[in-house]
Amino acid sequence: MCGIVGYIGNKAAKDILLNGLKSLEYRGYDSAGIALLDEGRINVIKSQGKIASLESKINQLQNVTSTSSNKPEKEFNSILQERLVNAINKSNCGIGHTRWATHGKPSDINSHPHLNTAGNIALVHNGIIKNFYEIKRELEEDGVEFISETDTEVVVKFYSKFKDQGLSDIDAFRKVLQRLDGSYAFALINADSQKIILAKNQSPLVIGIGDNENFIASDSATVLEHTEKVIKLKDLQIAELSANDVKLFDLDGNTVKLEVHHMHQVSSVAEKGPYKHFLLKEIHEQPAVISKMLLDAYSVATEPIACFNNLDFKFSQIDKISFVACGSAYHAALVGKYLIELWAKIPVEVNIASEFCSFPVLHGKNNLVIGISQSGETADTIAAIKSAQSAGAKIMAITNKQDSAIFDLAKPNTYVTPAGIEVSVASTKAFTSQVLALYLLAIKAAEDKGLDLIDIKDELHKLPLVIDQVIERADDYHAPFLKYANYRDFLFLSRGVNYPIALEGALKLKELSYIHATGYPSGEMKHGPIAILDQNVPVLSIAIDGASELEHNVYKKTLSNAEEARARMSPSLVIACDSNRDVENIFDEIIRIPNISQFFSPIIATIPLQFLAYYIAEHLGKDVDQPRNLAKSVTVE
Ligand code: M6R
Repeated sequence: MCGIVGYIGNKAAKDILLNGLKSLEYRGYDSAGIALLDEGRINVIKSQGKIASLESKINQLQNVTSTSSNKPEKEFNSILQERLVNAINKSNCGIGHTRWATHGKPSDINSHPHLNTAGNIALVHNGIIKNFYEIKRELEEDGVEFISETDTEVVVKFYSKFKDQGLSDIDAFRKVLQRLDGSYAFALINADSQKIILAKNQSPLVIGIGDNENFIASDSATVLEHTEKVIKLKDLQIAELSANDVKLFDLDGNTVKLEVHHMHQVSSVAEKGPYKHFLLKEIHEQPAVISKMLLDAYSVATEPIACFNNLDFKFSQIDKISFVACGSAYHAALVGKYLIELWAKIPVEVNIASEFCSFPVLHGKNNLVIGISQSGETADTIAAIKSAQSAGAKIMAITNKQDSAIFDLAKPNTYVTPAGIEVSVASTKAFTSQVLALYLLAIKAAEDKGLDLIDIKDELHKLPLVIDQVIERADDYHAPFLKYANYRDFLFLSRGVNYPIALEGALKLKELSYIHATGYPSGEMKHGPIAILDQNVPVLSIAIDGASELEHNVYKKTLSNAEEARARMSPSLVIACDSNRDVENIFDEIIRIPNISQFFSPIIATIPLQFLAYYIAEHLGKDVDQPRNLAKSVTVE
């Protein structure tokens, strides 16, 4: 994670860097900092916390005069402060960083940019250098001292060593990169040259080309605020930027031809509108997203599904499907497995992406590996897709971002969920749009195999109405959910197609309220988790009936398992349909959703769980849109 920005040109760098950092804050918000080049000196300002605290530190610097009573110290401080203020006002070259801590706790010291010992080189970094301890030990043997716990400080001091040997900026960087094992997007400034040096491996980095000015950022949306001419740096490339030039090199120092893309600026600004939080707004956007997806897919049930026409294969050629995904996207994939096996009769396995690469990869050309990712940038999912690709599997991606690494890897086999920008770190509308994409994919797969699913398609078209109805009940959910705000542990249970929704409900509650919550298949509770149950551990079940024998059996067993929890004195809650009377004698709290059959209920059952997490987090005063320790785009493995 982490976001990096840079600017070189003739405007005030500080404003461009701060605005860029704000648009990259979704990548991490443990600390932020900038380094500004001015009069041959590097000036660094950094602060633990969000960009807002960096901004107020900068404002204070501009306003406050030195407070020291000691005369020489006072003079020294005021010189330093004058330099900083000059740089803030005048510098037109700088780099900036917003951090998601990997090595070293969030603190001012561990914040980026990091400096070499002489203070004339500053570096920002997104990624993880796996062999940094080894390099650190070598540098320490040479007498180099370190003040932070970060891998980045090691890199800048390592670079400095080569510069001290007289190497050029690029050659010194090449030497460093040749030694590094890990992922990185780097941007570096050197007090001796009015240039920014960049390099990347596995972490994203783009250059925006302006008129006598150039920009860098971790995503293209940030540079598109300034220019539509974008270069996407490739792995193991090094770039050298001045105000009116961009040079690109490979690791051997050979010049590489620039590939400039003309990208259209799409608004990257999302407004909260009348909502208190983005999360709440995004929950309310779900009916519109679901409606749009269904309309784009088919208007009448007799028409074939139209939204996967770009695929270069037919599901009739596929022997096995493997999903790779993380977090909420993994939960969506579990729903997808159920539906594809049920309707298209193709065996499906679901992998947590970070585990996929820890196992032997057994894939051939009739195996389809589908990566699901809201951001399209999740490092674990990228690594899993790449390893399946190199083992010969066919690749597909379901992502919310067309301009993303995962989309590019899977082209042309892509589906972009039309959820729009999701600002809140906890996923809501992106998750439900992934689930719907998998309903559509399951139907498409069945159609490719000549199976007729007209009834199912008819049923699916009723979803937008039901999702509207469930969201209209938001206020009804408030008081019942708040009764549970002070518990410290929760279990979420369900079976079959709603088991992944139990996982998702538990994840939402954990992420937003920091209450410990775990999702289990209902039947698994008796195999161990039941030991923790007592009057202090509420158990929430999702119990939805259906017309088929499979649905009804699942439902009945879910109720039996809920009874087992209740017998252990656990406060019990249930998500149940309006017409369900069975639940009345079993549960303390019944959260009603409109009538829907089990097979079609996962999206609808998700909505009250989103409200549960939201209401409790809001009640406890948590940071709803940016929960602690999280980031929206997880770009490290
Ligand atoms: O961008 P991705 O969908 O690949 O992200 C995967 C997970 O990091 C993400 O779903 C995470 O679990 C969310 N915070 C869930 O709310």
